Formats: sequence, structure tokens, C-alpha cells
Amino acid sequence: MTGTLSQKRLAVLGAGKIGGILLRAFLQKGLIAPNQVLATVRHPDRARAFSEQLHTPVSTDNRAAARAADIILLCVKPQTVREVLEEIRSEVTAAKLVVSIAASVPTQYIEKHLSAKVPVVRAMPNTPCGIGCGMTGICKGAYAEESHLEAARALFETVGRTVVVDEKHMDAVTGLSASGPAFLYIILESLAEAGVKVGLPRDVATLLAAQTMQGAARVVLETGDHPALLKDGVTTPAGCTIDGILELEEGKLRVTLIKAVVKATQRAGELLFDK
Ligand SMILES: NC(=O)c1ccc[n+]([C@@H]2O[C@H](COP(=O)([O-])OP(=O)(O)OC[C@H]3O[C@@H](n4cnc5c(N)ncnc54)[C@H](OP(=O)(O)O)[C@@H]3O)[C@@H](O)[C@H]2O)c1
Repeated sequence: MTGTLSQKRLAVLGAGKIGGILLRAFLQKGLIAPNQVLATVRHPDRARAFSEQLHTPVSTDNRAAARAADIILLCVKPQTVREVLEEIRSEVTAAKLVVSIAASVPTQYIEKHLSAKVPVVRAMPNTPCGIGCGMTGICKGAYAEESHLEAARALFETVGRTVVVDEKHMDAVTGLSASGPAFLYIILESLAEAGVKVGLPRDVATLLAAQTMQGAARVVLETGDHPALLKDGVTTPAGCTIDGILELEEGKLRVTLIKAVVKATQRAGELLFDK
């Protein structure tokens, strides 16, 4: 590990889908050495299998992992957060940093279930973190300083981009960039189906759709141009693209995507029942 995270020991509590993706990526990128990390899961058989895969200690003992760590990355489901916090609370001092990626769980809730005034940072990553192309929204709790935010940013910037937001926006980040890959896979799959419909082999159609989606996203990120302006640049008067756009408008693609993000955002606010 370098810089802000140098010599820090990390505990990944709940190394499931996203926790596992992050842990693998941190190890692969050399952000953390295998002997500086401890991970936990609920089931002992999964702990054994995961430990063999990653060559790093994985157990079911949250308390021991929290005791040994400087940074505790909480990756369990929102409904399990309280149980885990109660388990580790005697081990978590104000000298440690708790980073939670649980959707819907406010920093205040985490602070309330720990005994000391522990710095808490809430983060919302997405699955493309697994290939270093993730997007993570981050905010800090009442006892976290800039240095804690920087430590969390350093963690997630090894696996993609980060943005610091007010906590009130975290459900929106969840609905847009954490759920977003699923929405985009559906769009990508549909474009590939379309390619098949117009005669392309499926592998070629999928490549065309995926590389086009990546290219369009990179142009937005690299130029900073408004997507509408970029769309106009593709759309020749009386050409093919405008006919396709007409179909998209008739099919209400825009409003459907807006409603998908709104619904996902609303749901993100409901996952934790005992706020
Ligand atoms: N999936 C995403 O794209 C995504 C993105 C951003 C944030 N998140 C957030 O990440 C969290 C996990 O989501 P997920 O999709 O990764 O779920 P998941 O695959 O079900 O992972 C949850 C993990 O928690 C472990 N676990 C359950 N109870 C535990 C306990 N008491 N102590 C230690 N570990 C325990 C489970 O262990 P076993 O494997 O033994 O069952 C499992 O490995 C959620 O809060 C979600 O909101 C997810």
C-alpha cells in the first residue's frame, strides 16, 4: 500500500459479491498485501473456499477481524449491519475508520451502534470496480475528518473514480451508479439482440454494442461535452440515426430510464427498516 493507506490493516466484513470484488481488486492492484487484510463471511465453508482462492485469511470472526484492523470495510447487507456492529462495537475505537458500503444505512445509524465517537465514511461503489472501472460516491459522518475521507477515496480510487457528495444524495448515487450497470447491461443486451435481428453473428453484435457503449461514455468523460450535443454530432439530417431516435422517443426510452433510476433511488431509502 502506498500514501494515505500505507501500513494500514484492512478488515472486509461480509466479503460477498461486492465485498469480494473489492477485496480481489485491492489485492490485484497491490493496494494491500495479503498479510494486511482479514475478511469475514457468515458461513465457515465459504470462508474456507474463499481463503484458499485468495490466499488471504477469511473467517467468520468479525470481532477478531475488527480488532486487528485500522480500517473496517463493512460490506454486509443493510439488514445485517446492526448485528455486525453490535458484535464488533467493543473492538472499534475512535482510532479506527469504519467505511460502510451498505445501501440505505446512514452514517448516523452506524455511529449510534458503536460505543465511541468513531469516524464513519459511507461509500457506494459499483461492480465495475472489479476491473478498475468503478464509480463510487462517498460521504462522511459526524466524526470523520478530511483525512478519513481521503483514506476512503484512496481505497476506491484504486478501483475507479470517486465523487464526494452530501449524505442526502447517497440514495440517488445508489439508484444511478450502483444499480446503473444492471440497467446498462439490459440496454447493451438489447442492442446486441438488435444486431442479431439485422443479421450479425451474436458475438460480433455484442462486441459492436459494448465497444460503442464504452466509446460513447468515454467521449462524455474526456470531452465534458453535453450528451445532447454529442448526439447531434452523430445525427445527419435525413440520415439513418434520426429514424432510430424517432423509434427511441416513441418507445419512451428516456422516461423509462428516468423512472428506473427514480424507483431504484426510492427503494434505496427503504432497505433498512429500523432507522
Ligand atoms: N452488489 C452491488 O453491486 C453493490 C454495490 C454497492 C453496494 N452494495 C452493498 O453491499 C452490501 C452487500 O451486497 P452484496 O450484493 O455483495 O451481497 P452478498 O453477496 O449477499 O454479500 C453479503 C456477504 O455478507 C456475508 N455475511 C452475512 N452475514 C454476515 C455476518 N454476520 N458476518 C460477516 N459476514 C456476513 C455473507 O456471507 P456468506 O457468503 O457466508 O453468506 C456474504 O458474503 C449490501 O449492503 C449492498 O447494499 C452492493
